[in-house]
Amino acid sequence: MEYRASEKIPTTLIPGDGIGPEVVEATVKVLDALGAPFAWDIQQAGMAGIECGGDPLPDATLDSIRRTGLALKGPLTTPVGGGFRSVNVRLREAFNLYANVRPARTLVPGRFEDIDLVLVRENVGGFYVAHDYYIPVGDDPHAVAVSTGTNTRDACRRIARFAFEYAVRNGRKKITVVHKANILKALTGIFLDAAREVAKDYADRVIMDDRIVDACAMQLVLNPWQFDMLLCTNLFGDILSDQIAGLVGGLGMAPGANIGEHAAIFEAVHGSAPDIAGKGIANPISLMLAAGLMLEHVGRQDMALRLRQAIEQTLNVDQVKTGDLKGTASTLHFADAVAKRIALSR
Ligand code: NAI
Ligand code: MG
Repeated sequence: MEYRASEKIPTTLIPGDGIGPEVVEATVKVLDALGAPFAWDIQQAGMAGIECGGDPLPDATLDSIRRTGLALKGPLTTPVGGGFRSVNVRLREAFNLYANVRPARTLVPGRFEDIDLVLVRENVGGFYVAHDYYIPVGDDPHAVAVSTGTNTRDACRRIARFAFEYAVRNGRKKITVVHKANILKALTGIFLDAAREVAKDYADRVIMDDRIVDACAMQLVLNPWQFDMLLCTNLFGDILSDQIAGLVGGLGMAPGANIGEHAAIFEAVHGSAPDIAGKGIANPISLMLAAGLMLEHVGRQDMALRLRQAIEQTLNVDQVKTGDLKGTASTLHFADAVAKRIALSR
């Protein structure tokens, strides 16, 4: 999609559940300070959608994203076990958001220095499709549990090509394909095969290697600097993206972009954090950085850079931090501090 510099861009804004409305408010505040070009269309989803009209994914929300092709989304609560199917997964399916991009970069000194990783996750297939059911035996309706995943060769090629193109565009040198092709020989073997095939087209520009997921998890802790980009199937990408968030200070520091041909939805990697919801203490950096990815997506690299620098200065010069980073700032106090830094950068 092309965006003209002078025009406001219609963008769907979903406050979401739990800490969602808090980190969304903080993020909108810093986007306003930047003069970001988004014209918000506020829509509900998740538990908030149920409270508004009885539907976790209202038609009005789908229509809005269909119209805008662009959304910034707070986390949505998904019931564990029974209840409705994940709205996040449904949104990725509805708009065929096949690529999930999750960068992890050190912003504050912590256990690991100088982390700069990008995880690309296949976003619509694998075990996450969750063809998941019970088989009753005798009087036990849940005697046997079955789950099947699906990966198509086309979808594997598509996400591999996306990752290699991303690498070329962003000056990345190496892609590590993460799989379990020794055990899930078909489901993740097809993923590895497709990546090897696509890698041939980029052989002179990007190195490809691969790791079995369990070994990769260990090596991410022992020596994360050996990795540049990780290309993962859906479930492994879900797990390892929380792990790489841990390398840079936790879930408060981890943005994500869900990208398709006709739409893109930007969000934090974290969920609705019910344990701290309503207290005004959540770290809004993940969603702010996701908004930064959205600015880059619409061609405003300049604003994305100013936003990132303002966050870094707030953390490291002003020493304003939320509790998860051992600070004392509230969500909105942190946002105000970032907005102040943005005003100074003009
Ligand atoms: P979670 O990511 O919400 O929270 C895990 C832990 O990290 C909690 O202790 C929480 O307080 C902390 N945390 C998360 N974000 C934080 C932030 N910004 N600042 C400070 N601390 C933060 O994961 P959990 O508890 O497993 O899931 C809660 C709900 O969120 C579930 O219903 C789950 O399905 C949903 N979820 C939604 C996602 C989405 O909308 N994309 C992604 C992940 C989970
Ligand atoms: Mg997750």
